[in-house]
Amino acid sequence: MIKKRIDTVTPGMIVGRTIYGDNYEILLKKGVKLTQSYIDILKKRGFLNLFIEDKNTEDIVIEDPISDKIRMMATKDILRVYETTRNSLVTIEAETGEGIIKCIHSKIKKNFLASHAFHQLIKHIYHFLEEIMSHDLLSGLNSIKSVDNYTYEHSVDSAVISLVLAKKLCLDDSKIKQLAIGEFLHDIGKIFVSEKILNKPDKLTAEEYDLIKQHPVFGYELLRDNDNIGLISAHVPYQHHERQDGKGYPRGLKGTNKINTNKLTYEEHGKLIMVAEIATIADVYDACISDRPFRPGIPPDLVYELIKKGAGKHFNRELVDVFLSITPKYPTGSEIRIKNGIYKGFTGYVMSVNEDTILRPKIKIMYDRNENAIKPMEIDLRYDNRIEIECVGHCKDYNLWTD
Ligand SMILES: [Fe+2]
Ligand SMILES: [Fe+2]
Repeated sequence: MIKKRIDTVTPGMIVGRTIYGDNYEILLKKGVKLTQSYIDILKKRGFLNLFIEDKNTEDIVIEDPISDKIRMMATKDILRVYETTRNSLVTIEAETGEGIIKCIHSKIKKNFLASHAFHQLIKHIYHFLEEIMSHDLLSGLNSIKSVDNYTYEHSVDSAVISLVLAKKLCLDDSKIKQLAIGEFLHDIGKIFVSEKILNKPDKLTAEEYDLIKQHPVFGYELLRDNDNIGLISAHVPYQHHERQDGKGYPRGLKGTNKINTNKLTYEEHGKLIMVAEIATIADVYDACISDRPFRPGIPPDLVYELIKKGAGKHFNRELVDVFLSITPKYPTGSEIRIKNGIYKGFTGYVMSVNEDTILRPKIKIMYDRNENAIKPMEIDLRYDNRIEIECVGHCKDYNLWTD
């Protein structure tokens, strides 16, 4: 199975992973043969990539750390929590940060915490944790997200990435659970900012931008002081836009650039907590790698470099080191191109990631530099240090990260 850009998909190809619609109805089931009209529908719905299964790539197994069933359950849970909260907003009229916080406390919070949707999410989290905890490496590609449900699908993928990292760091169960809840709901504060502002195509006014930058506060106010979920769950949304160098928002907290697994908070006041720092790396990684309506997903090798470059300034340096040790630069199933030597310009896919040398995967070359199919050729880059590769799809004007 490989991930293919929709403009290179042709009728007759087989769908590798089930594709879901806006309401999580099945659009195309895994194993279905594509027709032109199916491809047109997918294009119309804004899908830029999909997973394809074919004879030449059936030996490429892309592992998802969670099963379809659990992924779907978590995504739906998050969607329902958002919907329930949105429905209670009819009464919110405030347009200033202070007014919104007042409203959250007087009208929304109580119902939110008592809602069936919220309780379902908490109840189901154990199934999610159970599946994730058997994974050590983020070897495969992330999910294909639909345009309308991006927020919920991105929240699930960010949680998956966070938890694999948290597990590597041996965080205790309580912190891991709180991290999952916090990451699931990291952007819930955006609900309180009007769509008019969130989707404004023109330049935002200073006040509008200020209000958007308060979405972490709104999320925190909604979740805090709840014995069911714990303090960390509320601090993940609160701190997910903070940076190590203090240039983030809303509070401009600073990080220590060190791993500290024991303490919940740093003793020094005004410092970031590590669980939120984990969530931040996962959030940015997934946001960058995912397709968005305004740009295709940034290739994994570039995102890898972006996170590496952000270490120390944006992200906790020591955490980035661990993150990059479990995140392959070229995940299984990615389309790659050879950059040098006699096969320069030939393309193919990553067959599998070598756990001990994750920067040197096993690849399968399938097309020459003129895009003609050739007899597939497998090369294990572990044993051939001369060959350099890059992911296909590099383009110069990425609008890099937006959440
Ligand atoms: Fe955010
Ligand atoms: Fe996000």
